[in-house]
Amino acid sequence: MLRSKNQTWAIQVVSTGNVEGEEAEAHVRLRTLREWTPVVIRGKLLERRQAKTDTFLGMKLVTDREISLTSITPLNEVPSDIIIKQDTVFGPEQRHLQLRTDFELRNNIIKRQKAMQRARLELADQGWKEIETPILFKSTPEGAREFLVPTRAKGLAYALPQSPQQYKQILMASGFTRYYQFARCFRDEDLRADRQPEFTQLDMEMSFAAEEDIMAEIERLLRALWYRILKQKLPEKFQRMTYQEAMASYGSDKPDLRYDSKIQNITQYLPADLISKITPLSNPTIDAFKVSVSSDPKTTRKFISDFLDSPDGRPFLENPDGQPGVFVGDLTAPMQGLGPLGYQYTMEGPTDLAVEHGDLLILQARPDAPFAGGSTTLGNLRLALHRAAIAHNLLPAPAAHDYKFVWIHDFPLFSPSVDSEPGQGGTAGLSATHHPFTAPKTPADIDLLLTDPSRAIAAHYDIVVNGVELGGGSRRIHSAAVQEFIFRDVLKMRPERIEDFRHLLDVLRSGCPPHCGIALGWDRLMAVMFGRESVRDVIAFPKSGRGEDLLVKSPNRPTVEQWGTYGLEVRKA
Ligand SMILES: *[C@@H]1O[C@H](CO)[C@@H](O)[C@H](O)[C@H]1NC(C)=O
Ligand SMILES: *[C@@H]1O[C@H](CO)[C@@H](O)[C@H](O)[C@H]1NC(C)=O
Repeated sequence: MLRSKNQTWAIQVVSTGNVEGEEAEAHVRLRTLREWTPVVIRGKLLERRQAKTDTFLGMKLVTDREISLTSITPLNEVPSDIIIKQDTVFGPEQRHLQLRTDFELRNNIIKRQKAMQRARLELADQGWKEIETPILFKSTPEGAREFLVPTRAKGLAYALPQSPQQYKQILMASGFTRYYQFARCFRDEDLRADRQPEFTQLDMEMSFAAEEDIMAEIERLLRALWYRILKQKLPEKFQRMTYQEAMASYGSDKPDLRYDSKIQNITQYLPADLISKITPLSNPTIDAFKVSVSSDPKTTRKFISDFLDSPDGRPFLENPDGQPGVFVGDLTAPMQGLGPLGYQYTMEGPTDLAVEHGDLLILQARPDAPFAGGSTTLGNLRLALHRAAIAHNLLPAPAAHDYKFVWIHDFPLFSPSVDSEPGQGGTAGLSATHHPFTAPKTPADIDLLLTDPSRAIAAHYDIVVNGVELGGGSRRIHSAAVQEFIFRDVLKMRPERIEDFRHLLDVLRSGCPPHCGIALGWDRLMAVMFGRESVRDVIAFPKSGRGEDLLVKSPNRPTVEQWGTYGLEVRKA
């Protein structure tokens, strides 16, 4: 089989040894060549007996013609130590062979390029200007750990940008009104679930604009991408939900709305002795959700006990707030199996949680405190149980084209700092939930900066689909005084750290117009569009879970001389 250069079609080449001269020579040569050898061939195009199928390994097969070989010239060889069979699985150190032989993987890279091209067309149509910003930036405490780039000027370093945030705000003060860029960003973080140390975001900022403007632009762009690339119409307006509601009803700030089990606070219906059995907390809130796993209580009981015994179940059993309370609806049992929940619950409990034969009802305690962070234990359990039930064929898997978009808004402006994260380096025990340039939402929220900043709401919005955060943005602070006040008096950053931001403060005080923006994680967006679990399937050269490129073998160890060039030396452990 001869593949076309870009592997979109294949044609059969025939040759025989039962001839003289050039053709016999070509035949002998053909037999020595291994599959995947790049060649130039000459031959006669002949009709062939109609092929039985019109595809070959994902390529279109020419069904009615074949090439009768007259000469063949290899352009390179495939040595015998490289074995490329149809079912060979290549490791990441052979990314080129993964890409060459995996039709779907290569196709993802091509579709990614198409989506990028489409986004550029759509944005240009709306007057957005693509502007590049520097990759060699400086270290500023925005939130994530940075990569430093030492220079030959001893003791001086650039930092790679964790986002072009500051430059794009500077562009707004420079009189550009609609900036965008496919920006490469860098974060030297512990690589949690499917994060890459370098990633691409579609970065946007617009001036004389507020939240609604940017949300409308993103809805327009996503609708165009879905329509052009996936041939699917998305709704004119996306759903909206506050952070509070998302956390209370789904236990997550990126709720997966394909599963409809909603969480409810049922504390008021429960007897005190039950509460004390399921949690050591003294004044807890008890939340619950229901999921219809099966219509047979026996199947449901086996499902939940298998889940909790599995490694996936362990974190829920080890929760210091108490283990989940598990109840299975059973019409043959007294009070339908809900006896321990007490008379008041069974009479007055929320009708949404009414159980049928075989339904699973899960209770979980937590401290009665405002929400912080991205998820609750019960929210995580809700997702984990749905996934496990789908894996066991108890629930149907969501349809591939089922995209439930939702904007999450009204996030708290500040969250308690986590010591292990570099944060913004302030001493107030707070860090900005989004980043320290995010504006308070209303004048009342500005007032709260003086009295109780932890209650202030941010002009911050995230776009979420099917439990995946595609990106987030905010209206920015455009007043230098408010920005400096937040650095100094709210976050309590050290004066020398504030000086690292002096350029931004100077730019804001030059009469910068109000502006807002967003960044869409392009890798994540592509993974969602193409139905891939991992961003590695939509990036040509992704890094491993340990941040390594196993093909080129980076990062590597510079020599003593190289370190010396920068006036650096590696300390012996
Ligand atoms: C492959 O190459 C053919 C011929 O040059 C071209 O028509 C086709 O569009 C290409 N396909 C892809 C997916 O690039
Ligand atoms: C849950 O409901 C109880 C009783 O209505 C209430 O006291 C408690 O504050 C609620 N918890 C939360 C976190 O809203």
